[in-house]
Amino acid sequence: MTKFTVNNQPVEYRVDPATPLLFALRDASNLTGTKYGCGTGHCGACIVDVDGAAKKACQVPIGSIEGSFVTTIEGLSHDRSHPIQAAFLAENVSQCGFCIPGMVMAASVLLRNNPRPSEDQIRTGITNICRCGIYPRLVEAIQRAGRIQRGEDTVASPR
Ligand code: FES
Repeated sequence: MTKFTVNNQPVEYRVDPATPLLFALRDASNLTGTKYGCGTGHCGACIVDVDGAAKKACQVPIGSIEGSFVTTIEGLSHDRSHPIQAAFLAENVSQCGFCIPGMVMAASVLLRNNPRPSEDQIRTGITNICRCGIYPRLVEAIQRAGRIQRGEDTVASPR
């Protein structure tokens, strides 16, 4: 049995400790906001926050994170009111939307470590892949989310 915390709730998984965190979250906990893109650690669609770091959940065996604190996209907010989600909506970042949860979680960790990132720092720090090519809007949204978190900008209520 493997125990850790997901979105502030204790969880116990009675599966092989080698099971990828992505599958535990999606299949056992029904947290389907975390996406399966490549399954090989390249795309970032599965990024979640593990103890404050952006981790590709498809590459994390649950047995390696016993006692850890995991936050998924569902743990940020249930009504899209988190500043990053609000900025993504305001800047119309999403196109097909599949990669967005991983982008938001990567941005969350980036902004916690660097509240005022430059464009270069965002392009270097966010390595998620998006087939729709949303990258210019992504940079705008992350910088706007930083301004919102610093109280320098506001957005309308989420739709
Ligand atoms: Fe994990 Fe692509 S699904 S990096």
